[in-house]
Amino acid sequence: MLAIHHLKMYFVLFVLSYFSGILNLVHATEFAATVQLEASKPAYNSPWARYATWEQKNWDKYTNTAKELPSPISPKQKLEIPIVGDVANGKKLIADRKLGGSCLACHLVPDEHLMGNVGIDLTEIGTWENDEERMFNHIYDSRIYNPNSVMPPWGAHGLISPTEIKDIVAYLKTLKSPVEFAEAVDNPANRPVPVETRNNLDPFENPAMASLELGEQLFQQQCSSCHQSAAKYKGWAVKMPKYAPSLQKVLGVEEFVTRHARATKQLNYVMQSKENLALAIYLRALSNGEAIAVDVKDAKTQAAFKRGETLMLRKQGQLNLACVDCHQTGANKWLRGQYLTTTKGMIDHFPTYRTSRGEIWDIRKRLQWCNVSVRANELPPDASEYAELELYLTAINNGQIMNVPGIRH
Ligand code: HEC
Ligand code: HEC
Ligand code: HEC
Repeated sequence: MLAIHHLKMYFVLFVLSYFSGILNLVHATEFAATVQLEASKPAYNSPWARYATWEQKNWDKYTNTAKELPSPISPKQKLEIPIVGDVANGKKLIADRKLGGSCLACHLVPDEHLMGNVGIDLTEIGTWENDEERMFNHIYDSRIYNPNSVMPPWGAHGLISPTEIKDIVAYLKTLKSPVEFAEAVDNPANRPVPVETRNNLDPFENPAMASLELGEQLFQQQCSSCHQSAAKYKGWAVKMPKYAPSLQKVLGVEEFVTRHARATKQLNYVMQSKENLALAIYLRALSNGEAIAVDVKDAKTQAAFKRGETLMLRKQGQLNLACVDCHQTGANKWLRGQYLTTTKGMIDHFPTYRTSRGEIWDIRKRLQWCNVSVRANELPPDASEYAELELYLTAINNGQIMNVPGIRH
């Protein structure tokens, strides 16, 4: 009897510890029900409007991070050979940034500066045994030859007219000698890779340190009625983003700040506002020096992670480029004067001060910019697709050291 009683006790203890184990896991990956989150309104000033200083075109005909639209590969165009075109206009078009980046963003051609090398060297293409029809079609829609091409479908997506493509082909046919670089930096193969050497935590170097200070003040003023000290949240941000059952979506630090501040204090600190950035920087900086440790094991989080991973592969916008085209295939190469980083090390320094813009960007604004740069409509900052991309990027950077606020060119 006694033995059986003991066994029962052990069983109960075992069951208890098993469930409390699960509960701990749930706590690590999800917001607990005790965390108040306003759930009825967008976390931005609705309706969403793109930043006034950004390109304002509407690209709703093209796939973006939220919506996949058909973009059929065009049939091969039949042409009269030889192709006749205006060489001078072709040369002009190659450098025309109005195309959404210009050919120089990825290719080497003669007489130009600061070209990129995501694509191949075209300086001797005129000597290739390359039939003109293929050259035309490659520019019209490179997917005819390589369905996963990193070259935008210039003709098929209406960026360049067939007549203009003929001008470009006529110009390319004249290119017969290896490139000579006017200056050393013009050669992307030898151009020095930018290394960020500024001390991002030095207030004299990084203007975003003032935002960290503001974040600390706001915490004292607005949050300390319930949280005597923020010390408890050291180590909190390295586990973000995480799933919020009450919203049925993944929340990042910034959206959490908006929704928690609304729920507890009726403060409307919308995403990317000065106060939101300040508190987000403050809450993240509490974990500076700690390793990113997002837990994606539970089913909901794992599913969101997988969706984020898939989104990285999606061709988007009029330029038809996926995240991986620039940050994997194109990584460690030059897109014009910009050195493309890999997905590793991408996330540990957000929000980041951008010297070239004089602004602090949180991760969502960065994603919006990467969308607009391929001519895809960006999503509002609290979009769950961005949350899932952020979750994916953060989880694959587990182990990287949090270092906020960052500073970048
Ligand atoms: C985002 C980068 C990118 C841009 C911008 C770009 N290309 Fe390309 N291009 C590539 C890549 C990568 C290849 C290699 C083949 C492929 O992936 O389709 C290529 C290949 C080519 C080829 C070689 C085709 C062959 O016969 O092998 C030509 C010609 C070409 N590009 C012309 C252009 C022209 C003209 C423009 C501007 C209107 C342009 N490219 C803009 C990335 C780019
Ligand atoms: C009305 C009381 C109240 C106010 C005001 C308040 N909080 Fe909270 N907060 C809570 C409670 C309750 C929890 C859940 C239990 C806990 O973690 O202490 C919580 C949790 C949190 C968490 C952890 C969330 C998680 O993942 O578990 C953070 C971070 C936080 N609050 C930050 C803030 C910030 C920043 C402010 C000021 C804008 C703020 N809080 C204002 C009550 C409040
Ligand atoms: C046309 C190329 C291009 C595409 C496509 C693109 N990006 Fe970017 N991205 C850039 C450039 C250029 C930068 C700034 C230089 C750098 O850090 O790589 C950048 C920077 C970033 C950064 C910040 C890196 C850092 O260390 O500060 C993140 C994060 C990022 N991109 C994510 C994405 C995601 C996610 C997608 C897909 C939705 C995407 N990008 C699509 C060109 C691109």
